[in-house]
Amino acid sequence: MSIEKRFFGTAEAGDVYCYVLDNERGLSAEILDMGGIIRALYVAGADGTKTDVVLGRTGIGDYETNDGYLGALIGRHANRIKNGEFELNGAEYHVGINEGRNSLHGGVSGFDKKIWEANAFDGAEPRLELELVSHDNDEGFPGTLTVNVTYTLTKENGLRIHYRAVCDKDTVCNLTNHSYFNLGGHSSGKIYDQVLQLNSGFYTPNDDEGMPTGEVLSVTGTPFDFRAPKPIGQDINADFDQVKLVGGFDHNFAVEGRGFRTFAVASCPKTGITMEVRSDQSAVQLYTANMLSEGEYKDGASYGTHNAFCLETQCFPNAMAHSHYPGPVLNKGEIYETVTEYVFSVK
Ligand code: BGC
Repeated sequence: MSIEKRFFGTAEAGDVYCYVLDNERGLSAEILDMGGIIRALYVAGADGTKTDVVLGRTGIGDYETNDGYLGALIGRHANRIKNGEFELNGAEYHVGINEGRNSLHGGVSGFDKKIWEANAFDGAEPRLELELVSHDNDEGFPGTLTVNVTYTLTKENGLRIHYRAVCDKDTVCNLTNHSYFNLGGHSSGKIYDQVLQLNSGFYTPNDDEGMPTGEVLSVTGTPFDFRAPKPIGQDINADFDQVKLVGGFDHNFAVEGRGFRTFAVASCPKTGITMEVRSDQSAVQLYTANMLSEGEYKDGASYGTHNAFCLETQCFPNAMAHSHYPGPVLNKGEIYETVTEYVFSVK
């Protein structure tokens, strides 16, 4: 319906632009060409009021110097790799260590810090096409990987993220988007009353470094059971080891079924906004912003712990170390392709 391009700021990597996409249903996205960061996502209510449902930072410097990956595309390997090492075809690879002794979200300078080539296309379903070439040995990963991500605002009132990648060597690839959702509005505080339903009967418990232990456990009778809708706050402070370990939820859930399907449905009783998450991936990380630093963010808003939830569609974390986990290997010339959609409706 309409597209606008504005200068956003100058990062170490170069000038950063913000693309504003609008669809005819009143959904509006502000996306940076650095990291493909979704800086704002406005959902229109029946009375025309717009609610920005994602957290964001103020200026480009804030995105560069702070962690948290707010709204960013994550790669080459989303989530954790223990000791930053893995074996592929008998060779050992060492990738960027940036969290204790482990690698998180692509290493020291992941895809979230890179400026992507961007092309915007208007129409009934406006879209932004992004391309990044990650060279051989980028953060230690093998092969030159060409990544294409397309953000589309759909007629159904969704944000579709289409990921495609191809490499000239065997490599690992696990891409996601790290948006922090608050369906009450980005500055509305804790998400305790927001209701989540997640189609998962199994989750992977973590060790004390947030690393999956290799186990796959049933959610039955635990705070991890979101199969029936429940307020996120109901068990977020539960007296349960895995919850206490991370101060909420920060876990990988195996999602029922195969193919493109509904992963989760979240809603906010106050705004009436519902978000359905669909994907063809095998798993999703539910992260309830346990570590989000307190401070000032975009539009002068103050955020802190539990002010948002992330649903990061992915393959299982640290899967190179656990052969029973669906893993990230991408063979030379093979096409990595995956789609995730966040679809909005308002009651
Ligand atoms: C991780 C968290 C981490 C957050 C921000 C999530 O995907 O699982 O442990 O704190 O990203 O880096």
